[in-house]
Amino acid sequence: MNKILKEKEIKRWWDSKRQLRWQNIYEGKDYSSLALNNREFKILYYLNKNNKKLNILEIGFGGGQLAYKILKKGHHYTGIDVSSNLTKIANAKCKKYQKKNFNFSVGSFNKKLKFKNNCFDLVIMAGVLQYSSDPKFVFNEINRVLKEKGEFICAQTNVFKLHFFFKLRTLLIRLYYFLSKEEYEINDSLRSFFLETKLKKYVNKNLKKFITNNKYCNKGYSVNKFDFKKRIFFRKKLINLGKQNNFTVITKDACGPYLQIGYKFSIYAIFNYILEIFSNIFFFRFLKKFGESQIIIFKK
Ligand SMILES: C[S@@+](CC[C@H](N)C(=O)[O-])C[C@H]1O[C@@H](n2cnc3c(N)ncnc32)[C@H](O)[C@@H]1O
Repeated sequence: MNKILKEKEIKRWWDSKRQLRWQNIYEGKDYSSLALNNREFKILYYLNKNNKKLNILEIGFGGGQLAYKILKKGHHYTGIDVSSNLTKIANAKCKKYQKKNFNFSVGSFNKKLKFKNNCFDLVIMAGVLQYSSDPKFVFNEINRVLKEKGEFICAQTNVFKLHFFFKLRTLLIRLYYFLSKEEYEINDSLRSFFLETKLKKYVNKNLKKFITNNKYCNKGYSVNKFDFKKRIFFRKKLINLGKQNNFTVITKDACGPYLQIGYKFSIYAIFNYILEIFSNIFFFRFLKKFGESQIIIFKK
């Protein structure tokens, strides 16, 4: 797909009515809210390890939830986001802070960033890289705007989350991603698996008709009204991207939930709690590769 058209579609998606939910998505009780809160908790943990007042850039700020907490700590904050609606929401959320300490603006990381070289102490990007047309370009730009020894917190939704390995169709799709080195995500449905991947050339007319009409094959399928695909990311891919762009990896972390739970108490919540504890013990640290989001900290 044409790069400009894809960029327009991403903006159209992020300016759509549905995305107004980002205004209070962190206050929900479901899996997504728990995943977002866990990720934000870890980002703030690493950010607050440093006692200095920082000049921070966030790329893709959503509803401005992280910005609000960064400003509360007295840092200087700049944010860019492709969505005009979310920019208004984030501005409204942070209105109680002094205007001179923050700036939200509409912009895309797929274009050269409008900032000078070496001007930020820290860049944060959480759950945004899947929308990049060229991830190497994005990393290169982040490197350019960071000061020497500046840090980059890259938190990214993981395509190899643990709970995907417990369901046949999501497992099959993960195996396919792993073996095919596919660049873009598909819906977690057998319909997408057979008809939207490189496998489609092996599907004849009759089989296509069967797959399209079969109830099980359509589980997890949805029609995409926006003409773009999300990029696939996992731990190794992020680390390699950083290294290729002259970053040094200083921390490799991840967050849960590892199982598909929300805030409600259940037996799965207990299992999840145990997995979270185990993931911090040396011998079981490999579990983090299957965490909900990967959190990699790079240094320039
Ligand atoms: C999944 S949300 C994550 C929001 C926030 N970082 C968080 O974790 O709560 C993705 C965000 O990236 C923004 N975004 C998508 N494509 C972008 C682009 N090309 N340039 C800048 N921001 C973009 C969206 O508007 C949205 O705010």
